[in-house]
Amino acid sequence: MRWVSKHKSVFSIYWIRAKWTHFGKTHIFNLVNFSINTRSIDTFTYMTHEELFAKYRLDFSTLSEYVMACYDPRILSTLSFEDIRDSLSDGQTASKLWVIDALSKSGNWESKSACVFGGWVGLLCRFMFDYLNFGHVTNLELNTKLRGINWFTNEMKYPERFAFVGGDMYDFDYETNQFDLYVNTSGEHIPSIKTWVEKIPPGKQVLIQSNNYFAHPQHINCVNSAQELFDKVSEAKNVNLIEYSGELIMPQYTRFMVIAKT
Ligand SMILES: C[S@@+](CC[C@H](N)C(=O)[O-])C[C@H]1O[C@@H](n2cnc3c(N)ncnc32)[C@H](O)[C@@H]1O
Repeated sequence: MRWVSKHKSVFSIYWIRAKWTHFGKTHIFNLVNFSINTRSIDTFTYMTHEELFAKYRLDFSTLSEYVMACYDPRILSTLSFEDIRDSLSDGQTASKLWVIDALSKSGNWESKSACVFGGWVGLLCRFMFDYLNFGHVTNLELNTKLRGINWFTNEMKYPERFAFVGGDMYDFDYETNQFDLYVNTSGEHIPSIKTWVEKIPPGKQVLIQSNNYFAHPQHINCVNSAQELFDKVSEAKNVNLIEYSGELIMPQYTRFMVIAKT
């Protein structure tokens, strides 16, 4: 099986959401390059771990520090069995490599800065260094106990280029701390995607994922489709352009992703 990208729609369409103010009212309209109400949604074919590892040349060097950390009892005590199992699952690995795949097509990220909001054990941050050579990556994470595992996954190899910041993404100082890219693959874990996106300053790139895994007890804000995630992101007043909308169908659930510009 190959990692293929195919367009569901016949047309390749990017939506431009233009806004302007006229007589004190804000009007919103969409410009489409072919027809109104037709959007392209990329569908990425699910791959097994073996296929992902082969395709992305994911080898032990990328995961070795993470695995090593699990032998340290101080680190192990901060992680649940589910954290370790789920962070290395086919679905999580595929979702993170999908981010890398999409970002690699949307620009050159070398030396650029990014913040991953709710970056968990830090594997996405590590992939961003290893695959895209980001200049600096911050993991803004609510669970401060995860600082230790993030030291192993990122700081040990990239001491000058990684920061773990403990905190709530809704209370973060977005004016003082600015990045080129804002990543949030935990959309299903946060109460409002719109509120979060509206905190991001103008002229920034935003990548957000959510999924339809409603049965998971920690998932408080799932979506049913790529369209629903698209609509939630579009609701944010500061979003000017949706660059990408896609889905990754997996055996247990489907993950959705939107890349937007503020
Ligand atoms: C289970 S994990 C990650 C799942 C997701 N699919 C991913 O890999 O990106 C969700 C993470 O989001 C973090 N989180 C949830 N709400 C947050 C908030 N308001 N601010 C910062 N981090 C948050 C949690 O602590 C957790 O580490």
